Amino acid sequence: MSFERKNIEKMQGYAPGEQTEAADTIKLNTNENPYPPSPQVAEALKSIDVAALRRYPSPMADSFREAASRLHNISAEQVIPTNGGDELLRLVLTTYVEQLDTIAVCKPSYSLYPVLAGIQGCRLEEISLNDDWSMPEDFLERLHKSAPKLLILVNPNAPTGALLRTDYLAKVAESFSGLLLIDEAYVDFVDPQLNYDSISLINSHDNILILRTLSKAYSLAGLRFGYGIAAKSLIEPMMFKTRDSYNTDHIAQSLATAALNSCEYARENCIRICQSREQLRADLHTLGLTAPASQSNFILCQVPESIGAEKLYLQLKQRNILVRYFDQDRLRDRLRISIGTNAENTALVTAIKQLTQQ
Ligand SMILES: Cc1ncc(COP(=O)(O)O)c(C=O)c1O
Repeated sequence: MSFERKNIEKMQGYAPGEQTEAADTIKLNTNENPYPPSPQVAEALKSIDVAALRRYPSPMADSFREAASRLHNISAEQVIPTNGGDELLRLVLTTYVEQLDTIAVCKPSYSLYPVLAGIQGCRLEEISLNDDWSMPEDFLERLHKSAPKLLILVNPNAPTGALLRTDYLAKVAESFSGLLLIDEAYVDFVDPQLNYDSISLINSHDNILILRTLSKAYSLAGLRFGYGIAAKSLIEPMMFKTRDSYNTDHIAQSLATAALNSCEYARENCIRICQSREQLRADLHTLGLTAPASQSNFILCQVPESIGAEKLYLQLKQRNILVRYFDQDRLRDRLRISIGTNAENTALVTAIKQLTQQ
């Protein structure tokens, strides 16, 4: 006999990308940052007083909230620090989505969303992107019809790397009566010339919530730190009712605060990664692997049928190069490749050349 709730019994858990401790693996499968965190983060770690750990951490992560409010020019009350961006997603569902409600997401997008809908036991509406990964023309009509309580748009999209403009996001938020969660896990890799900045939307739209993470641009995936940005009225129920009282720990708060306070370092790394992205995309193109333009720290490459995406993924794995293969409709002929250092990217290109042109 199973003691699980019925919807938990029925659902599949999230399958994270492979992790490895092997130092000789080139890891381009989970969109981690190839560079270390800032020296200020390293300093903050060194200066942690282990004796301080006998106390509970700051319940509201005050220093981090202040740092985030300075960075984004918003008030601390418009920020909720979380244990990774993933915790924010879970909190939004717990706080705002009833079991009879619908969550709408695009397909493809972050594969955790359907899992969270399964845990919550609510309805899930997956709206397919066009073949070129743009939004379907009838998206707003579909939204109107399904009337979701929560729409999650990942921007730039994962796994496609496509970016939606802020005026479109504002139009979406105005066209339905639920919440719009803009998952900006990869926003720091957007070309600065595009002047993308959605933060001001939270002042004009009290149904918009923005997710940020320190896992990607700040090279802190192992720390587990993210945050939400929204109108105070959306932040408060999560801050004071639904999150664990100490959802982020003392060490994580100190390091995350140091990371935001040294954001210039992360910004420079992001610029380097974007330059490498364009080089890698061009190099793979010459090998017949094409990828649409990406505003993220990964590209989604189409692999010719004669090579086979799954086969190439397995062959690369044998050579200790990990990339991401999704056994999913519309993605089986593709590989999602995170941008590594230039040396890692070159090793990948060399391996693909050897495997496909012998
Ligand atoms: C689209 C998207 N959103 C959110 C996250 C959550 O990141 P984290 O929990 O590491 O902050 C990820 C992680 O890969 C992601 O790809």
